Amino acid sequence: MNAVLGVSGSVAAYRAADLARELMRSGFTVRVCLTDSAQEFVSVALFEALTGQPCLIDTFEEPERGRMAHIDWARSADVVVVAPATANTLNKLAAGVGDDMLTTLCLASNKPLVLAPAMNPQMYLHEATQAALALLAERGAEIVEPLEGDVACGENGQGKLASIPAIAAAVLDVVSASSIFKGKRVLITSGPTREPIDDVRYITNRSSGKMGSALARAALRLGAEVTVVAGPQAARLPAGATTVRVETALEMHDATLSLASGFDYIVGAAAVADYHVVNRVSGKMRRSAETVHLELAPNPDIIAAVVAANPSATVIGFAAEPTSDLSVAATKLKRKGLFAIAANDVSQAGQGFDTETNRLDLVFADGRTASSELMSKHQCAKWFWEQILSAKAVR
Ligand code: CTP
Repeated sequence: MNAVLGVSGSVAAYRAADLARELMRSGFTVRVCLTDSAQEFVSVALFEALTGQPCLIDTFEEPERGRMAHIDWARSADVVVVAPATANTLNKLAAGVGDDMLTTLCLASNKPLVLAPAMNPQMYLHEATQAALALLAERGAEIVEPLEGDVACGENGQGKLASIPAIAAAVLDVVSASSIFKGKRVLITSGPTREPIDDVRYITNRSSGKMGSALARAALRLGAEVTVVAGPQAARLPAGATTVRVETALEMHDATLSLASGFDYIVGAAAVADYHVVNRVSGKMRRSAETVHLELAPNPDIIAAVVAANPSATVIGFAAEPTSDLSVAATKLKRKGLFAIAANDVSQAGQGFDTETNRLDLVFADGRTASSELMSKHQCAKWFWEQILSAKAVR
């Protein structure tokens, strides 16, 4: 196993030496990349002596002639760890800036990324730093939160580098998780659908597609091959997923059903419109003094059709309900023949449509239930897959 250990310029940089050793003890070949500021605190010689590998410090340095080290290192790594990660480095990573070897290497990497911030507590609490961390976590980075305590600058607060065993454990977890879904194919429907009334108006719903995107990202992190059939959603889909764009429920039905047979896990995270407009007007419907009646015909139940089309797949639905009573979701689970259903009580603040956070109750076909805390949608997605995998392991 290969780890790239990025060290940026914090007083805690000296502790990266212990982390390098801990990772080596866990079986990693560790290659260290130091930023200019890190070299004010620790030396190349220290890390080269410890790891037996050359350190990378300069974007244009090429230890092997004719090879681009930042690409080579990014390609051969199983994981990239930045510890300590300063506010400056975190903000650059979030913005996609590549102005030194470490940030360039991170830009060139599609491998799991573990970030262990260390900085002054005010810098940690700064909105820019918090926004960068939230964005990086949303993109799939594992953040090993800094600890509270006295920091080098004499202040007290959250900003101390996490313990070396905690960072090393997070690295091992991320690397072992990245092959859990190896060879598995995951299909996710996501976002709302749009049902045209005429060429300029449509019926839709409040789904943002954030949960579907988070589920896709989390499945990619587990090593799955992921396809998303996405309605016109606002949330960005992860670059590693194959995306099939659709607009209407009927298009989503056709696209999903044509794919369904090749997938191991299928998740219906889309908020599918129950009806489409039969008397759709072509062109633009003109205003008149008359009452207008829209004739609505039911759309097919996509997830139920998927269960029939691919009985060997593990099919999981979602149920956004304005109640905490799980019996409504349980009835849907049975009616659709699902493995499990994730119920969302959308009457509660901070969960459900177009929120950054979510709380799920998973109801399984065997009657077992599991409830998450209120957390960010990407954490919720991680929790979702953990629950599905452990429920599968029990059977
Ligand atoms: N679903 C689907 N196709 C539909 C409607 C819903 O695949 N035409 C899926 C959703 O993606 C979700 C689950 O079924 O995974 C439950 O969706 P929901 O809208 O809550 O249920 P409905 O069957 O539409 O029932 P109701 O409208 O009575 O709540």
